[in-house]
Amino acid sequence: MALTAHALRTCCRSSPSSITSTSEPEFSWKFSSSDASSAFQTAYEIHVSPSKKEFLEDSLVWNSGKVKGPEPFGVIYSGQRLESVRRYYWRVRLWDLQDSVSDWSEVESIETGILDPSHWKAQWIRAPSEFGNERQVGYFRRTIHLDSELKTGRAFFTALGWYRLFINDKDVTGNALVHRWTHFDHEVEYQSYDVSGYFQPGDNEVTIVVADGRYRGHLGFFDRSSVYGDRLAVYGQFNLELSNGAEVVYSTDTEWKVSKGPIQRSDPKHGEVVDIRVSLCEGHPVEAFSLPDVKLIGEDAERVQAIQQLPPQKILRTPSGKQLIDFGQNFAGRIRVKLTGKPGDRVTLTHSEIVGQDGELDIHYLDLPFGNSLMQDQVILSARESWFEPLFTIHGFRYVEIDGLDYPLQDADIQGIVISSNLTIAGSFNCSDPQLNRLDANVFWSMRSNFLDTPTDCPTREQSGWTGDIQVFSRTATLFMDVQAYLRRFLHNMEVEQFDDGPIPPIIPSETSRYSGSTPSIMRYVSSSVGWGDCCVIIPWNLYQYYGDRQVLRSHYESMCRWVDFLGRRARGKRSWTRRLLTKGLGDLEEYIVDTGFDWGEWLRPGEGFGRSLFNILFGTGTVGTAYFAYSATLLAKIALILGKHEDARRYGELSTQVKTAWRAAFVRDGGRYIGDDKQDDYVRAIAFDLLLPEEKNLAINRLAELIVKADFHIGTGFLSTALLLPVLSDHGHADLAFRLLLQETQPSWLHMVNSGATTIWESWEGYTKDGRAMGSHNHYSLGAFASWFREGIAGLSPAEPGYRAIKIAPHVGGGLTHANASVETPFGTARSSWYLSEADNIIHLEITVPPGTTATVHQGEGVMSKVGPGTHSFSWKQS
Ligand code: BGC
Repeated sequence: MALTAHALRTCCRSSPSSITSTSEPEFSWKFSSSDASSAFQTAYEIHVSPSKKEFLEDSLVWNSGKVKGPEPFGVIYSGQRLESVRRYYWRVRLWDLQDSVSDWSEVESIETGILDPSHWKAQWIRAPSEFGNERQVGYFRRTIHLDSELKTGRAFFTALGWYRLFINDKDVTGNALVHRWTHFDHEVEYQSYDVSGYFQPGDNEVTIVVADGRYRGHLGFFDRSSVYGDRLAVYGQFNLELSNGAEVVYSTDTEWKVSKGPIQRSDPKHGEVVDIRVSLCEGHPVEAFSLPDVKLIGEDAERVQAIQQLPPQKILRTPSGKQLIDFGQNFAGRIRVKLTGKPGDRVTLTHSEIVGQDGELDIHYLDLPFGNSLMQDQVILSARESWFEPLFTIHGFRYVEIDGLDYPLQDADIQGIVISSNLTIAGSFNCSDPQLNRLDANVFWSMRSNFLDTPTDCPTREQSGWTGDIQVFSRTATLFMDVQAYLRRFLHNMEVEQFDDGPIPPIIPSETSRYSGSTPSIMRYVSSSVGWGDCCVIIPWNLYQYYGDRQVLRSHYESMCRWVDFLGRRARGKRSWTRRLLTKGLGDLEEYIVDTGFDWGEWLRPGEGFGRSLFNILFGTGTVGTAYFAYSATLLAKIALILGKHEDARRYGELSTQVKTAWRAAFVRDGGRYIGDDKQDDYVRAIAFDLLLPEEKNLAINRLAELIVKADFHIGTGFLSTALLLPVLSDHGHADLAFRLLLQETQPSWLHMVNSGATTIWESWEGYTKDGRAMGSHNHYSLGAFASWFREGIAGLSPAEPGYRAIKIAPHVGGGLTHANASVETPFGTARSSWYLSEADNIIHLEITVPPGTTATVHQGEGVMSKVGPGTHSFSWKQS
């Protein structure tokens, strides 16, 4: 029975436009067969043509020929050079186990962006320096006169600042926040728009509104503004084909004018100020300038945009009489609200995640040492009723206080607008415990709130791309949404900013630039932290495990080597004063201990506020640093082998053995009974990173179990190890303990957050001070990274080989649950695992779906295993 290929994608996305990747386009597809058992691909052939209809041999730009291969992904184009701004079409056919060939698939289109720099006709333009105040939003405008109808048109635009493009008052950008955050000294992303329907014969008004965005707006922990520059600018062009046959290009140049308009100022974190009485003023001439060192790159990840609307759950009055809207869900975005009043009335919209014990909005709990975290929009009303929605800001909130209206708002007057990267949902989990389902939803919402134009720590206080946060969460992220293109982009940005000698800024983009001075020494100092910098090895490794992505290993191999070599140099440096004081040293092995330089360590264990965590940094002994050194060296040796770099594989393999030996000599006592500081995370890391000898492992697991019992079944891990805790327990015979921690309701625990009314995951286990005041962010995904265990532990569905070509199904039935199911969209198709426990006879019934092209090994209780191929299969066994 022949196969059918479908769901064709290029560079991990459907029909992408503006392909500009430096490497060639990469193709993937899915396949199915009416006979599930023979649904295996053995070979494929791809044709790429410039014409949708003509796939004749001599018109093809690439004919791959018949290529043997079982994987429907990772095929790199290697045909004729693709032309700039051109649409191409491709299709694929497949051979099955009997070597019978399928029909050709449906045709998929791709569009190249501007590949040849000489096709850019634009100039960077900006407002003159005397234009407005230092936060002035610019409306860049020109009229384009067309002599005849427009046949087709493309716009390519970008800006220094966030921008929106309007043609004849129609919003071309749509509800998107563009562009994505890059290191603007080096790269600026541009968008490609189909503008065919927007122009008419005669005069057409084009306006591009540019606001601070990440370029000039407030950023991060230091709440600094104008980090990359202080003057907003715009760059771009329209490539138009008219019905009279003429091809014309209109680009930004000194013919454009810049005006002030209703948006007075707009900050990505702090909010927008809009005077809706104002109409566009007379235009000022613009200045042209050049940015010779800046590369323009296409959009290779999904746009950040409004993806959902939330109705208000409650409209309340605070004790002081202010109107307070409760959306019932913490999220990142903004609101849309209908406002009426007298001309000149000022309405203030203040956002927060928290209402304090006094019933008023709490806006101080996130204050920064060098700034604040105020998220406030202001609107100055005109005589007419109008809808307001800020265009260029993201707030993290559940509540909005609305001040300055003399009438009560109605539900229909207000909506929450959820902003996130427009990623496809790629997995689900559900079980018989509604609390756990809510917890899973909380993780989802924290992911949604932080997968912005870089993966951020929180949408409130910092909105910074902390590398440790995405390091711990990346694997879990793949189980919720399709994040392959998104995380590839993150890694690209990371590599742009990695220091030549290996360290990696702990936030990407690093919030530093030529304009605001060279990298502050504090930033350079903290760029050495393990767990954060290891993102450069661990994230590509996860993308390989979950998507079979070899390309990402190839692309970032050199960056990984630089990081691991840097850790090697850190290790060879002098011994830390703590170790010199406390230990006799390890002789030659001492040069494998990472104990100097800066590490955040485990970070924020329960009860360890920021102060205690800083103490740990100062007095760290190198147990965390050296463990990560060993782990990254081990992964790098495996990656080198996958890429066929045998000498490197040997070298890093030996390094990993030496580091593990040194780590054990320094930190393991009594044959594994005591490790490091004898905290839960010491054991979790040792086991998860495979640092112990087999005979030490049992003692270590027993000690971990002891510590958990001693903590009365409470979690003791912090930022780095929490995601590893439950799998370590369940993989080593302690699923019961994993369930006890998961179902624990008192602090510290995940369900304590749920019971306290959380709708997202908190940054710290506490969330509130002892006297009930909120502390830390309430929307951080890092402690939510454990949610992979819902799918991989409880439902038991995980990849046994990269890209799920072989699947492991090993459900953990326990915790009083009577049913659970999970699904994940693998590169081969949807995989499912669903079980229920028939309590009357204690029988577990399992049903699984194995995607075409894959096999699954099903673990049925203790020791019983079966191997099955594609299709749906059922099993049942008695619970032991
Ligand atoms: C961020 C974290 C980050 C950390 C570094 C915090 O301010 O919110 O998520 O990883 O700093 O330890």
